[in-house]
Amino acid sequence: MNTSVATACVPISLGDRSYSILIGENLLSNPLTWQDLPKASCALIVTNQTIAPLYAPKLRAALESLYSRVIVLSLPDGEVYKTFETLNLIFDQLLGEGADRKTTLFALGGGVIGDMTGFAAACYMRGVPFVQVATTLLAQVDSSVGGKTAINHPLGKNMIGAFYQPERVVCDLDTLQTLAQRELSAGLAEIIKYGPIADMAFMLWIEEHLDALIAKDPVALAYAVQRSCEIKAGVVGADEREGGVRAILNFGHTFGHAIEAGLGFGVWLHGEAVGCGMVMAAHLSQRLGLVELSFVERLTRLISRAGLPTQGPKLGAHVYLEHMRVDKKAQNGQIRFVLIDSPGRAVVMGADDAVVQDVIEQCCL
Ligand code: NAD
Ligand code: GLY
Repeated sequence: MNTSVATACVPISLGDRSYSILIGENLLSNPLTWQDLPKASCALIVTNQTIAPLYAPKLRAALESLYSRVIVLSLPDGEVYKTFETLNLIFDQLLGEGADRKTTLFALGGGVIGDMTGFAAACYMRGVPFVQVATTLLAQVDSSVGGKTAINHPLGKNMIGAFYQPERVVCDLDTLQTLAQRELSAGLAEIIKYGPIADMAFMLWIEEHLDALIAKDPVALAYAVQRSCEIKAGVVGADEREGGVRAILNFGHTFGHAIEAGLGFGVWLHGEAVGCGMVMAAHLSQRLGLVELSFVERLTRLISRAGLPTQGPKLGAHVYLEHMRVDKKAQNGQIRFVLIDSPGRAVVMGADDAVVQDVIEQCCL
């Protein structure tokens, strides 16, 4: 297969908060990647202890020609550190360095670093610019795009945060080569999600190219990242703050967040919980008469081939329901699910607890 990939630029149109998502190879070292960012004297690269030795020196070298001070802050690695305490380490660094309100933050990492750094950027001096330098597949196809930033609270995932858009998103495909296969699978979950909710031709493409994606073929990865970003950019452009259609991007997330919170953050990866959550949401769609069982089976097969779990942990239906009632889509304690209305089209609606309970029992080990 051809291994050379041209850099793609996916625009995200949000008026004066518009920006570009750059997707390609060798982007970290390419000076063109970093041109035309807001002028500042200081850049803070926020990363973690796993990613820092791999990519911080390269990013730092690229930024040193643009900023007179480039600082690297390396945080502990893991979803369990997506907390107020870790967020405060970013503020400690910024204040300790006397960083002014033009200081630009570079989130070098996956969704945990991206969400936390974005939130720090939204809060520091009421808002400083930030750039998403996404190094996991999940971050490149989903979390770095669209401006959702957050930390977890012991009582709920991503409950404390802000909508705050980056200046640019940089998806250097080369970084995926060092990513663990389990993390790659987690990213595949968020790619697969775009098929049932928006584009069945893309779902077919994923089915046909899944082996190439798992083998980290750069051409296949480039297309998957680009198409995912195009779909997400379209949805976010239509509904930045999730007043309506953006909720469809949470397909699989209502059940998924219950798995993550129910087991304790970090036990299952976010993408694993979303993969399994999509199976549960597809079953619920079928039980409500929206889709055929054959569609649920097709989606389940794809999720399983991607190396993701298709059966949930046996937490007890009441534990799932308890966590789902605090989901951000819930209204007056009534859980609202993203369901598949027909393949390629999603709908957000409630369902009877008894049916949901049945689905949970059917889908758990
Ligand atoms: P992550 O950020 O924890 O990264 C996964 C692991 O891979 C970490 O151990 C990390 O250190 C390591 N890693 C990162 N890049 C690497 C590389 N290139 N090579 C080797 N190792 C590397 O997890 P994630 O899956 O990227 O993100 C999950 C988070 O994203 C969750 O907190 C979730 O809530 C959030 N999320 C946010 C949005 C959003 O719209 N903001 C959307 C989806 C998910
Ligand atoms: N990941 C869901 C969203 O960005 O809305």
